[in-house]
Amino acid sequence: MPLMYSQRLKNGSPLLFCAIATVLLANAAQAQSNSETDAGSGADSNIQTSVFGHLPDGRQVDVYQFTNANGIELRVTNYGGIILSLKTPDMDGKFDDIALGFDSLEAYLSDEYRQANPYFGAIIGRYGNRIAGGQFSLDGESYSLATNDGSNHLHGGEQGFDKVLWQAEPFESEAGTGLVLRYTSEDGEEGYPGKLETEVTYTLTDNDELMVEYRAVTDKATPVNLTQHSYFNLKGEGSDTILDHQLMINAPEFTPVNDTLIPTGEIRSVDGTPFDFTQATPIGERIEQDNEQLSFGGGYDHNFVLARDDAASDELVVAAKVWESQSGRMVEITTTEPAIQFYSGNFLNGDLTGKQGQAYGHRSGFALETQHYPDSPNQEAFPSTTLEPGDTYLSRTIYRFSAQESFDE
Ligand code: BGC
Repeated sequence: MPLMYSQRLKNGSPLLFCAIATVLLANAAQAQSNSETDAGSGADSNIQTSVFGHLPDGRQVDVYQFTNANGIELRVTNYGGIILSLKTPDMDGKFDDIALGFDSLEAYLSDEYRQANPYFGAIIGRYGNRIAGGQFSLDGESYSLATNDGSNHLHGGEQGFDKVLWQAEPFESEAGTGLVLRYTSEDGEEGYPGKLETEVTYTLTDNDELMVEYRAVTDKATPVNLTQHSYFNLKGEGSDTILDHQLMINAPEFTPVNDTLIPTGEIRSVDGTPFDFTQATPIGERIEQDNEQLSFGGGYDHNFVLARDDAASDELVVAAKVWESQSGRMVEITTTEPAIQFYSGNFLNGDLTGKQGQAYGHRSGFALETQHYPDSPNQEAFPSTTLEPGDTYLSRTIYRFSAQESFDE
């Protein structure tokens, strides 16, 4: 399939897209050659593959394990592109798995999990977050999507990109090792217009980064908003709450919501509110304040508008940093996206038991999802999420993991 990087989204920077295109092309070529040798054999010490299980229709689901030069270990499955585990060192060099999730495919397929629907570690698409009433119009046509979150559409519908089997090719490149995942979402799938060919690349670098690159093309105009839905607890998954983690979000503004978590359209300054994370602040410090926005989310569940000199630019910017004092672990997130959803795990309630056999209690993990704003298809003033045929959706987010004695070190 020819790549169309010469054409791009309205706001795109050609230089950045060229750089991403080069990496993606190199990755794809590398994946092609590696797939014959590494995939399935587990022969390469940095990349190991194994069978995770089978879907009810018999299709095999695999797990891909990557280890970088410093011992960081990432495990990903091609079911939903889910990050199953991520082991990183603390200040003393002790490794813990910091990503919430499960040990077995059955757990991800269970009714219990599907009902709770926390989307642990998954790729989210075709549209991350909510679309009001599951309705939108595009080019004069009205579209109806599943209302799988009360009266709204959430994270792509009943069977979003988190619940489909992706075609996977592991690769080793100069940047590191990783996995190219591809999925074709048919015209009309989950009610969305256009056949969308999607590619998501995970790269684990020796610089202790996890790079996630998204690319998509369509044959009809369609909304697209892809993201990654990992929950982290920097003390190790299965630990208590994340309320003591210190968070910085590089966002002077956020988008307030109504009581069904749909943006009102206002873009509000964080100044003087519990949403001001421009300076590192413990997540729990203001979470119980008497504040209408916090009450709507049951805590933080909001879209933060990232600081950019030029609002239309998609240069990489630091979006957020989180640091935890016991372990010293820090994650820094940079992105080409205009916003980030900060979700403080408010709907986790102890009903789901994770990898260590520990119940995932209230606020025992946080998610920071780089994205365009929720409900953009219905909000003309928000940056557009419409992908036109002939254009290429490109997005990149980098998570950098480290351990240090203080937030600012
Ligand atoms: C949303 C939450 C939702 C969670 C899990 C987040 O992205 O903002 O409202 O509960 O995903 O579904």
